[in-house]
Amino acid sequence: MKIFLDTADLGEIRRAVEAGLIDGITTNPSLVSKVAGSKDPKEIYREICETVDGPVSAEVVATDKETMLVEGRKLAALHDNIVVKVPLTEDGLKACRTLANEGIRVNVTLCFSPSQALLAAKAGATFVSPFVGRIDDVSGEGMQLIHQIRQVYDNYGFDTEILAASIRHPMHVVESMLIGADCATIPPKVLWQLVKHPLTDRGLEGFLADWKKLGAEI
Ligand code: E4P
Repeated sequence: MKIFLDTADLGEIRRAVEAGLIDGITTNPSLVSKVAGSKDPKEIYREICETVDGPVSAEVVATDKETMLVEGRKLAALHDNIVVKVPLTEDGLKACRTLANEGIRVNVTLCFSPSQALLAAKAGATFVSPFVGRIDDVSGEGMQLIHQIRQVYDNYGFDTEILAASIRHPMHVVESMLIGADCATIPPKVLWQLVKHPLTDRGLEGFLADWKKLGAEI
């Protein structure tokens, strides 16, 4: 499963890249507005693309097809790594089809049902982003949606990649892997939670204490 980092924070991105852990980045307007300050968001997208060798999702903010196309083409022209993110609306699907026909990769976001995911695939999306955590937030079964989309795409041989999004904790990641999501986009905090295990820490302490008794060097 590919791991994308769900952030526009360059410090966090560099930390994960240094560890060789990530295959791409997703952003959304809220994540960009958290870090941008007075910086031009386009500059942020460029810097992320220079830092990460993989798909970098940058989202349109228009809601009508024609303006989405203008924004999508501008975003795609920033760097080869850019994947244009559009919302799962009628206009978003139309924009997705047009951009895909032009050879621009599209991530259809804000997906909350298997039927929406079917339409994203039909519209030529490279990625579809089902929002697991936000479904859990309203007493739904977020992971069930990943299961359903996996089944639909496998039944009909769609090659749109399932990008599990709105991941809130390590078990969302584990379940995404077990279901066979193609990718999961993970907030930095959750990525580093995945590293930790108390038995690793305890085991390491024991090894180091025993080695110390030798008084030897490597
Ligand atoms: C996906 O691409 C979104 O950026 C993100 O996963 C949304 O997560 P949230 O529900 O935690 O805001």
